[in-house]
Amino acid sequence: MKHLLSVDDLEKDDIVNIFDLASYVEQNWTKIDRYGDLSGMSYATNKCVASFFAEPSTRTRLSFERAIQWMGGHVLSVADASSSSISKGESLKDTFRTIGQYADMIIFRHGDEKWPDIAKEYSRVPVINAGSGAKEHPTQALLDLYTIEKEIGGIKGKNILFCGDLLFGRTVHSLIKLLTKYYNCKIYLCPATVETLSGPKSLMLPNEYSDNLCYVDVGFALKILPTMDIVYMTRVQKERMKNDLAPYPKIDNLELTLPIVNTMKHNSAILHPLPRNGEISEEVDDDPRAAYHERQLRNGLYIRVAVMEYLMEK
Ligand code: NCD
Repeated sequence: MKHLLSVDDLEKDDIVNIFDLASYVEQNWTKIDRYGDLSGMSYATNKCVASFFAEPSTRTRLSFERAIQWMGGHVLSVADASSSSISKGESLKDTFRTIGQYADMIIFRHGDEKWPDIAKEYSRVPVINAGSGAKEHPTQALLDLYTIEKEIGGIKGKNILFCGDLLFGRTVHSLIKLLTKYYNCKIYLCPATVETLSGPKSLMLPNEYSDNLCYVDVGFALKILPTMDIVYMTRVQKERMKNDLAPYPKIDNLELTLPIVNTMKHNSAILHPLPRNGEISEEVDDDPRAAYHERQLRNGLYIRVAVMEYLMEK
């Protein structure tokens, strides 16, 4: 594996190795500030990583950049494509060729779903997909999986409920691929509905993901909640349906409140890739099952160090 462009690049062994590394990083994160000092050698020490985000980001970009610093590497950062030559009409092909002359690795996010194909062909340095349109977000899927394992002590065969925007939510797509391919999880889907110019639209998964999955409405989702091991909430990605939305669109999405969360098992967890737009009320934040604000975010740091280290080693 040279790049991490899709979860399809990940064999089960890769995931196991990345989790081992992440757990080592986690145990040592606060002991010392540089992986390089800790192990005698990090592949990233004094290397330069370009972090190029052509779509908005808080968590993904900052956690990657913090991870690079922790590893003793240097960061070149483009946080807004309007400040790059993409806004002057430069092709992605030329963009990858250019960045590869300055950096040893590229972290890239862009709204075009097909950019990973271009990166594969034209980048001479490893590229990590930090978001490709509505399609994929592989490092988020890894950190979500790692969080599931740590929160409830395993992944295999677990009951997982996904709520919200399953059509445009790239984190959902990447995670469901891994859960069904390697972990035989039982997946329940509760899509949000939004009002569009042509009527209400249910944000169901694209067809390619629909094998062996069970759709439920909000009423049924609430009924099965006490049997779920994980509830994965997402916001509606309005920015991906700009021309289609009704002027003041009514959005129907399950909202987790504390009384609802209190019907869940003790050994269960609530995940959200964030940002949230009201799908989880703030009163839930202090519940021990709420993993999204602290543990899931911290796991992003450990997983991103592990992924970069793993790719550089190859
Ligand atoms: C997600 C993304 O960008 O796909 N956020 C993230 O990376 N943590 C989810 C979202 O924007 O809704």
